[in-house]
Amino acid sequence: MSAAQPVTDMDPAERAVELRRLLDYHGYRYYVLDDPEIGDDEYDALLDELRAIEQRHPELKTPDSPTQRIGGEPVSDLEKVRHPQAMLSLANARSADELRAWIQRMRNHLAREGIEDPQFEYVAEPKIDGLAISLIYRDGVFERGATRGNGEIGEDVTHNLRTMPAIPLRLDVEDPPRMIEVRGEVYMSLPDFAKLNERRAEAGLSTFMNPRNSAAGTIRQLDPKLAADRPLSFWAYQIGATEGISFASHWDALEWLREHRFRVHPDVKKLRTEDEVVAQCRSWEERRGSLEFEIDGVVVKVNEVELQRRLGVVGREPRWAIAWKFPPTTAVTRLNQIGWNPGKFGDLHPYAMLEPVRVGGVTIKLATLHNEEDLRRKDIREGEEVIVLRAGDVIPQVLSPAPHVAERPDRPDSPRPPGECPICHTPTVKPEDSVFTRCPNRDCPGRRWQLLKHFAGAMDVDGLGEKQVSLFMELGWVRTAADFYRLDPEQIASQTGFGRVSAEKLVAAIADSRRQPFGRVLYALGIEDVGYVTGRSLAQQFRSVEALLEAAPEEIEQTSGVGPKMARRIHAQLHDAQMQSLIADLREEGLRFREEGPAPGEGRMAGKTFVLTGTLPDLTREQASEMITRAGGRVTGSVSGKTDYVVAGASPGSKLAQAERLGVEVLDEAGLRALLS
Ligand code: IVH
Repeated sequence: MSAAQPVTDMDPAERAVELRRLLDYHGYRYYVLDDPEIGDDEYDALLDELRAIEQRHPELKTPDSPTQRIGGEPVSDLEKVRHPQAMLSLANARSADELRAWIQRMRNHLAREGIEDPQFEYVAEPKIDGLAISLIYRDGVFERGATRGNGEIGEDVTHNLRTMPAIPLRLDVEDPPRMIEVRGEVYMSLPDFAKLNERRAEAGLSTFMNPRNSAAGTIRQLDPKLAADRPLSFWAYQIGATEGISFASHWDALEWLREHRFRVHPDVKKLRTEDEVVAQCRSWEERRGSLEFEIDGVVVKVNEVELQRRLGVVGREPRWAIAWKFPPTTAVTRLNQIGWNPGKFGDLHPYAMLEPVRVGGVTIKLATLHNEEDLRRKDIREGEEVIVLRAGDVIPQVLSPAPHVAERPDRPDSPRPPGECPICHTPTVKPEDSVFTRCPNRDCPGRRWQLLKHFAGAMDVDGLGEKQVSLFMELGWVRTAADFYRLDPEQIASQTGFGRVSAEKLVAAIADSRRQPFGRVLYALGIEDVGYVTGRSLAQQFRSVEALLEAAPEEIEQTSGVGPKMARRIHAQLHDAQMQSLIADLREEGLRFREEGPAPGEGRMAGKTFVLTGTLPDLTREQASEMITRAGGRVTGSVSGKTDYVVAGASPGSKLAQAERLGVEVLDEAGLRALLS
């Protein structure tokens, strides 16, 4: 499906329906399949267009519109709701023997029921470490979502679930079941969790202990704006109560979920023998550390629903399913020393050097500690035992002192940031309003490395990661970001780890990044407070780097999302000599320092509304609307009292008649050209 041309003569109601369909589809490609067909900018443009229509025609707003994901009104408390079918828990198996024993118990049970030698099929799924959620869809519309609670009664968290892009607000079918309850796990991915904690630490807020707590805390918030702002995701793994639909097997249910745009993990497997099940559990255990989310085991379920029914439930646990549990991922070890590393703005970040310890299958000796505040809050001291947590791919964290350590009478002193930068040895400074002690040296190689890494990431250059940046820095090839664009493929090819092909590919990818839009370049420069979104807003506001550099702090403050303090800091950083020479160098390298396309509300046709109808002699509809928007005008789909001009070509249809009725000025192609020129 393509993003469809900005069709201009569509009725707004029809266009809104079309846009919702497109946004749902592309949201699904992005959030569910992780395989987007269009870029973020294109998606945002569709969303902006829909927002604009809904603003102009509030009657066209629907509760299942993708624009409604931003979060509605806060609720006053979380209402208790009874689940239509109890949400069960699972018995555990901690070894292959226990798993085989479970299968034997099922056989015995069925034998007593008169079923000899049942042919089991199994489904093995990751046991996601988040929190269980029930979603009710009535006549295809998402009606209510609730936490598991005690299994019988949970809490209504619909307001927060609605903000999550991975949860469909409507089922994409002609003939939806009367009612279907989808169950699954809400979780936060490890990279998202790490970013969130970093953001919180920088803002001086407390950090979350782990992704699970973070997801659980978020989903129970009263204000959905908070949930909308935190990156929650969802894996669907079960169907609960239904009306008007039924499934013969769990596998069929998962297929149904996939078809209806729920996220079902692609590596869920159907298996036939005990050995296959054991092998599958072990394989998940091996993959555990490289997954994007935390799992604490594997859930094995009997596939056939009829067998599930015969097996039944003991207490709160179904006989037909079991959780293969992994060993825990925390460990206690000695914190030998705290080290400090400068970030891209010189902030010194503490990290822990540990007595090597095995956690969750790997040996760790380093762990992160977000900042000084975090250290103080956790009350961690050098030389003491601490609890460390390793979660998937992210850097291990120090959680707290080991139990009882904090009660000791003669504890070592609290750690302090160093008086000089550990990388360049410049005396450090501590700004009053910051949680960080800083290395003030702009030439510090530690800071440069961070800045260069940030640039490569921000410009989205494939193949230019931490390793490559370090290598090019060590070789003296790259000092500032502009040097990336001067790398020589032949020289790169001579380095170990590279061949001719990979070197050329890398240089091509770097060259390609010249096409990144101005907003992204601003973000990549590494200006404190200027993230991706602010970069884009600044680009839209000022249109060119010249205008931005001429702007006073008070003008920068006019940018959306920028407050007075931030504006002053951004202004100061832009006018710093090093930043100016970086900008000059990057301009010379041909990066974009100008916003392409028209500014909203600018141009000679600003505020003028056009409607196109019929076929023009030389211009396609797209070309005509581009000319109009470039001049600052707006093209809409239907003629109303607010329309300024109707541009009519051959076979114009009812819009021309409408224009004449309303007395709207009608132009032909020549007239349009004359008006715009
Ligand atoms: S099935 C039989 N499948 O584990 C139905 N649960 O101990 C029981 N969980 O509360 C749930 N991943 O939060 C099921 N693939 C999965 C799961 C899963 C994680 C959690 C869920 C549940 C707990 C049961």
